[in-house]
Amino acid sequence: MPGICKTVEIAPKVYWVGVEDWHKRLFDCLVPLPYGTSYNSYLVIGNKVALVDTVHPNFGDELLRKIASLTELVKIDYVVMNHAEPDHAGSISRVMAQAPAAKLVLTSKAAPIARKLHGVEEGRMMVVKDGDYIELGGKTLKFVESPWVHWPETMFTQVIDDKVLFSGDFFGAHLASDVLFDDEVGDILLPHARTYYALIMMPLIFMADKALEKAKACRPAVIAPSHGPVYRNPERIMSAYEKWIRGPLEKKAVMLYVSMYGATEKLAEAIKSSLSAEGVNTVPFNLVSADPGHIASEMVDSSAVLLGVPTLLGNPHPVGSSALTLLKYLRPRAKCAAIFSSYGWSGGAVNIIRTQLDGLGFKILDTLEIQGPPTREETEKAVEMGKKIAAWIKESRGV
Ligand code: FEO
Repeated sequence: MPGICKTVEIAPKVYWVGVEDWHKRLFDCLVPLPYGTSYNSYLVIGNKVALVDTVHPNFGDELLRKIASLTELVKIDYVVMNHAEPDHAGSISRVMAQAPAAKLVLTSKAAPIARKLHGVEEGRMMVVKDGDYIELGGKTLKFVESPWVHWPETMFTQVIDDKVLFSGDFFGAHLASDVLFDDEVGDILLPHARTYYALIMMPLIFMADKALEKAKACRPAVIAPSHGPVYRNPERIMSAYEKWIRGPLEKKAVMLYVSMYGATEKLAEAIKSSLSAEGVNTVPFNLVSADPGHIASEMVDSSAVLLGVPTLLGNPHPVGSSALTLLKYLRPRAKCAAIFSSYGWSGGAVNIIRTQLDGLGFKILDTLEIQGPPTREETEKAVEMGKKIAAWIKESRGV
């Protein structure tokens, strides 16, 4: 909408100049975005001016208009690149072209990426390391290296004076909203932040754990991530991350299955009923229609994974195999699994999946492979599988 140029002051002379991408429905061709997303960029105005991150290149014009409503573009002294992925760094070249004296502030690991992906010349870069400062005059920026949340070059930037922490992807949420602050967004926020965490941070949970400690050490009054709402109640998202990264796993199993003629699904139902009777919650996903974001979110605190995959021409059904690819990517904390399967004329899926799960570090609690629909005896074996998994989950939690 021409003429409307919304910016938000999140601390004195610290402005959100980001954009909402209401209509994006898939991120990285993987992550479903039911509510779109946002690309947050922040302008810090002291005697000198710094821009922290930019926006997706599709929204470069809007970013430039927003900055220009607060200061002349030519007055930007620093462009801080917390993260080199194009959804945040994709407008850097346009901003730097409008601000010819500006330096790009980045980590040493970010420098070659900025050169290759964003065409920034070395002479315009200022490499910083953990603990370095830039005095803007009236505002001080401090840099905190926080690698691998999400790429190897990532860092946090603090405005020391106002205890604002620009955390990049860390603490983000894919959620477009007309309001900016976490308390304005309400209860819808944390489920989206959890899905985001599961898909972006859980695969590198050891680095997320370290980044959480670094973020806590900053004692932020405001957490301003690169996607989604700004937290003026930072404890809200830090305690959620604490739980997702380190909290106890739930008395819960995630079941991922596919079924061509209903036989594998009958096994799934028997196993699920058995777990339920033992007091263990099972979240089933038929892989034909399941949303990978929903699966990832449930994997955050699940104790076990149950895979139901028929054999198709001597191999695991390809849709079932996609679950293994997803597990390999997500690297959930649950490290025990069970496999069930059916076949028409020849089996084999279970052994192949067992080998793959072994390779991912899973302990296999039980397997079951049958021909066609389950008989009464085979159904009883599925019930026993459920009991075995329930017993293991309860024992592992000390219940
Ligand atoms: Fe939002 Fe890793 O970029």
